[in-house]
Amino acid sequence: EKGNHRHFMGKEIHEQPEVVGRTLAHYVDLSQGRVALPEALPFDFRDLSRLSITACGTAYYAGLVAKYWFEKLARLPVEIDVASEARYREPPLERDGLTLVISQSGETADTLASLRYAKAQGQHTLAVVNVPTSTIAREASAAVPTLAGPEIGVASTKAFSCQLTVLLCLAIAAGRARGTLSAEAERGLVDALITVPGLMADALQREGEVEGLAREIAKARDVLYLGRGTAYPMALEGALKLKEISYIHAEGYAAGELKHGPIALIDESVPVIVIAPHDAIFEKTVSNMQEVAARGGRIILIGDAKGAAAAGLDTMATVTMPDLDPVVAPIVYAVPIQLIAYHTAVFMGKDVDQPRNLAKSVTVE
Ligand code: F6R
Repeated sequence: EKGNHRHFMGKEIHEQPEVVGRTLAHYVDLSQGRVALPEALPFDFRDLSRLSITACGTAYYAGLVAKYWFEKLARLPVEIDVASEARYREPPLERDGLTLVISQSGETADTLASLRYAKAQGQHTLAVVNVPTSTIAREASAAVPTLAGPEIGVASTKAFSCQLTVLLCLAIAAGRARGTLSAEAERGLVDALITVPGLMADALQREGEVEGLAREIAKARDVLYLGRGTAYPMALEGALKLKEISYIHAEGYAAGELKHGPIALIDESVPVIVIAPHDAIFEKTVSNMQEVAARGGRIILIGDAKGAAAAGLDTMATVTMPDLDPVVAPIVYAVPIQLIAYHTAVFMGKDVDQPRNLAKSVTVE
């Protein structure tokens, strides 16, 4: 079943161009250059004053990326929390508002509980799920599938990139409905989305480089991930992926938070992985990289050639990513982030498909 891969995780990372392409084909009308949701949703994005998102772990980070997309493209305020907090915090939720839950398995106990809570408050519920027969898919007022196929590796990879793909399509649909996204802007985004599977394949070509880098990361006790904008949740996801399969302590931070504390950790022994596509706030991230470099920190830049040249910094390594529309960057940048964790853990001899203490589906609290 693993084909010519050593692990399910490796196989699933490599499947991404295909499964993201399949997911896109389900949500995009290629001939019209617009998003076309496969079924009508039982609510109107125009009627919403706010969107609440809950999920756990990697699915939560997909939701955090989506917050940026919904707010930017649809001007829809988003509140997001991990499901284990949302369910007990009992937040006030407007009748006829919308709660969005995200789950690969569709069985995560806390996510299910937060979905039930939202329903009890009279909210519409929309689930982005990978297992269409799951409890969450059945109980939500509408379920939209990620077409990642079965995910066996405990660390979520292809489900995550498919979640991002569906969430961006939903944000575009919301933007159109709310009149905040012109037909032309939508066509531009769809054009960018269509290039994503190919760009992910390009990113997979960097695997050899990442493998070399992983040998260095394997020596570290702590690793810091930094990013701004949608690269911030990607930093959180990168840190989660590394710690769960390599057991190296890693933390993700909003780059701008560096000087508010974590900069105290920086010295030569701490690799700092900076996720920074060349976007509108790239320059701000460069100044954070300079702060790291000035303290002897070793920077690993995941960015494009333009950014690397503009930064003009001595990095320990650069994983050079293809040029792309920054809106779709999280989907493509998921690849090097996953490869870094995967190769570090494999190099360290860890069981990447079955990390200690973790279960694929968390059906108890
Ligand atoms: C991390 C990981 C977990 C899951 C989380 C939610 O790699 O796999 O953090 O993302 O347990 O699971 P689902 O998506 O099934 O609700």
